[in-house]
Amino acid sequence: MKNNLLKGKRGIIFGALDDKSIAWKVAKQAHDEGAKFVLTNAPIALRMGSIDQLAKETNSKVIAADATNMDDLDNLFKESIKELGGKIDFVLHSIGMSVNVRKGRSYYDQNYDFTIKGMDVSAISFHKVMQAAWNLDAMNEWGSIVGLSYIAAQRVFHTYNDMADNKAVLESIARSFGYHYGVRRNVRVNTISQSPTLTTAGSGVKGFDVFYRFSDDLAPLGNASADECASYTITLFSDYTKKVTMQNLFHDGGFSFMGMSEESMSNYLNSSKK
Ligand SMILES: NC(=O)c1ccc[n+]([C@@H]2O[C@H](COP(=O)([O-])OP(=O)(O)OC[C@H]3O[C@@H](n4cnc5c(N)ncnc54)[C@H](O)[C@@H]3O)[C@@H](O)[C@H]2O)c1
Repeated sequence: MKNNLLKGKRGIIFGALDDKSIAWKVAKQAHDEGAKFVLTNAPIALRMGSIDQLAKETNSKVIAADATNMDDLDNLFKESIKELGGKIDFVLHSIGMSVNVRKGRSYYDQNYDFTIKGMDVSAISFHKVMQAAWNLDAMNEWGSIVGLSYIAAQRVFHTYNDMADNKAVLESIARSFGYHYGVRRNVRVNTISQSPTLTTAGSGVKGFDVFYRFSDDLAPLGNASADECASYTITLFSDYTKKVTMQNLFHDGGFSFMGMSEESMSNYLNSSKK
């Protein structure tokens, strides 16, 4: 699909690790829609992942930045403006990591150093990205900033652990910064609450395949894929959504508004004790 929706726009895309990453799909589609952008990730992810391939395919530069480090972010925005030849129109924050999950600690047995680190990477970094851009006045008027979230911000999902709290903070930051960015700079800020998606971060959650099947069964349209998430993200970067801001937008095939589906009901009927 090529509709030039992002023709002439300049962006920064955080979080493309490999070709399964949601950010990877966004980069591919943004390129197809005519955008120029810089790709960024934490230095260690640049060494482990395959971002250079994406950079080649999308004719873009890679600039390393740990999204929790203000000096890195300051440098990233300055260098991106130089590289792209002007201020930024869109930013994708596609970053998430829980040390407690990685180390197998359950929600009622947190190591708080891990908790704070995970919160910094997954949620506070969204604030840091926006504050770095704000300080440099790096965003163009009518620019768009998007973060990626999950419905565990509103409801409990067994094993999603402290990532649920991180996502709740992420969505709150989108609202709060969205207000300030809107009223003073005409920039919009939203989060997309995406279906479970088969990526490195997704598969890190214990029992992820069950999460995946459960929501796929319940959602009338089924789970949204990473590619579909990318398409939705592109609309939020485009000029067709200029007045959408401070929202958490569910992109989940209808899962968030379901109670019981025919499919789930029949699963229970088949397995119910007589
Ligand atoms: N996969 C899912 O099921 C799912 C569902 C809803 C929302 N999300 C969210 O989508 C976003 C992208 O995740 P994904 O599923 O594409 O997985 P992914 O593992 O491909 O992406 C996560 C990215 O975060 C980056 N990252 C980690 N620490 C960082 C740091 N300090 N600085 C900069 N970058 C850092 C990683 O290097 C990686 O590129 C995350 O916010 C995730 O929580 C994922």
